[in-house]
Amino acid sequence: MSRKYVIAGNWKMNKTSEEGADLVKEIVGAVGQQSDVEVVVCPPFTVLESVSRVIEGSNVKMGGQNMHPAVSGAYTGEISAEMLRNHFSSYVILGHSERRAYFAETDDFINQKVKVALENQLRPILCVGETLEEREAEKTLDVVKTQLVGGLAGVSAEQIGSVVIAYEPVWAIGTGKVATPEQAQEVHAFIRQSLSELYDKAVADKVRILYGGSMKPGNAAELLAQEDIDGGLIGGAALDSNSFIDLVKSAIAQD
Ligand code: 13P
Repeated sequence: MSRKYVIAGNWKMNKTSEEGADLVKEIVGAVGQQSDVEVVVCPPFTVLESVSRVIEGSNVKMGGQNMHPAVSGAYTGEISAEMLRNHFSSYVILGHSERRAYFAETDDFINQKVKVALENQLRPILCVGETLEEREAEKTLDVVKTQLVGGLAGVSAEQIGSVVIAYEPVWAIGTGKVATPEQAQEVHAFIRQSLSELYDKAVADKVRILYGGSMKPGNAAELLAQEDIDGGLIGGAALDSNSFIDLVKSAIAQD
């Protein structure tokens, strides 16, 4: 399969400008020139500038962790697509389960963001995933499908190639409870099947689908070896240069 792996670090609300620059210097030094795997770091907004200076001239890309769909205006505390682009971001994480749970983001609102990101040449990393309750009630696939269809409404077949999907089971995020490779692969294959129904098989085969939720060097190889797992969206293990670099190397070793 010709899909290039993506290893993306979601730093969440961690790191000052200086700490972020130090972390990314190590990442750039170790894996910043290779091009087998796409490496993306998503620092907090206040750290975008210092990180952008360090990644300049390397293959490491940067993304925001959220974005507002409006062009500008009275949205206290928010940040626009243009502002992210202005700070050399090429990706943006949208619909993360923490945004859905703590900030009441709906599929409709997330969909507005996805469309605006694409119009502004930002690649959305659209997150989907079920809670433990939903999994136990055997609603995983329904929940994921609703989030996927809702998040991608109005996204064309030409645009979908720029979208990255991240399957993040909520019960695996920050808990140390990783999905088994079989559990993850089942949902990833379902997402790809859903994309082929929404678009077509050729298009669906090109979309990268990342796994997220307690991924670390010790469990990455097995997950990344699954047919429909094209990388990882990493939280905790992205805050330490050694573990993040190991994750990138684990993806390189899959090629
Ligand atoms: P952890 O890797 O800390 O479980 O977080 C995953 C995540 O939410 C990435 O977006």
